[in-house]
Amino acid sequence: MGDERIVSPESHRHGERDGHLRPQSLADYIGQTSVKERLDIFIQAALARHDALDHVLLYGPPGLGKTTLAHIIANELGVGIRFTSGPAIDRPGDLASILTNLEDREVLFIDEIHRLSRPVEEVLYPAMEDFALDLVLGKGPGARTVRLELPHFTLVGATTRAGMLTAPLRDRFGVITHLDFYSPDDLTRIVERTASVLGLGVMPDAAYEVAKRSRGTPRIANRLLRRLRDFAEVRGDGIVSLPVASEGLALLEVDPHGLDAVDRRILQAMADRYGGGPVGLETLAAGAGEEPGTVEDVYEPFLLQQGYIQRTQRGRVLATRGYQALGLSAPAAQTTWTDSRSEENL
Ligand SMILES: Nc1ncnc2c1ncn2[C@@H]1O[C@H](COP(=O)(O)OP(=O)(O)OP(=O)(O)O)[C@@H](O)[C@H]1O
Ligand SMILES: [Mg+2]
Repeated sequence: MGDERIVSPESHRHGERDGHLRPQSLADYIGQTSVKERLDIFIQAALARHDALDHVLLYGPPGLGKTTLAHIIANELGVGIRFTSGPAIDRPGDLASILTNLEDREVLFIDEIHRLSRPVEEVLYPAMEDFALDLVLGKGPGARTVRLELPHFTLVGATTRAGMLTAPLRDRFGVITHLDFYSPDDLTRIVERTASVLGLGVMPDAAYEVAKRSRGTPRIANRLLRRLRDFAEVRGDGIVSLPVASEGLALLEVDPHGLDAVDRRILQAMADRYGGGPVGLETLAAGAGEEPGTVEDVYEPFLLQQGYIQRTQRGRVLATRGYQALGLSAPAAQTTWTDSRSEENL
């Protein structure tokens, strides 16, 4: 199985606690059926050709399983995987040394690949396309370029924002895959799987309750489950039953819609301060006391997907469902307005 070498300490920040919860094979990876199906075909084809898998870009909101999938790709290919991340690679030379140390068909995982600096990114172009490294020797008129051959490797890039990747970088990925939020049914299976790995008893209705309230996100489901385990051990008999789950989730400020405190702050700011919108991202983030990037990457995708808010050309607007989540009724005029203009700018 994948021999794993850590290139940067930062890159395994989730690994410490999540490592043992990670499924190791495509068959164990729950949900994302079409993603799995496609990857399986490409992996089988690469194996049959004894060649490296084409470069894969995984994008989608945080916590949906991009890192997990990168591990699985390496496992399924039967090769090692090396980890790094965009911000961890300071200079082109750093990337060059990672690349020259790769072994044939190995996977190089670059997390937050949209944060690579431009000079570093330029080293990647020939590496991805021709498995070559162009070295400039000397300076001034005497300088010359030497082309160094690299092993055939597979780059797996992960990003929360595919839109922030430059076109030349995006175009060099042969497989571009979007991970979407998980359905409550898939998340229920993830909760049950995690519970069994943790040796924790969870009632089926409690598992479903956690699943429904996890913002479609496995990492959140796993985190809530760990906290409910504490709650069940201290307040109950160690089993996560529905009453334990409901009480525990209330204590964790996760509401029955699965919205957390920040989600509600965003919706509340839209209702109270901006008359339901339209409001721009920066203004909204300031009103909710969050960074614009955090609102855009972490909170907004789920709120949009679930129809709590909508994006129009003039900004974000609070949808009927958003008002309902706050226990308010939507202003009549607002409802028609948002409903008719909603899909425009998505
Ligand atoms: N499809 C899945 N089936 C089972 N468990 C999963 C699945 N996807 C993710 N998980 C679990 O969810 C957790 C988060 O996954 P992971 O770290 O891969 O997310 P990520 O998309 O890389 O997030 P980030 O973008 O924040 O790095 C892990 O503990 C993993 O075990
Ligand atoms: Mg990750």
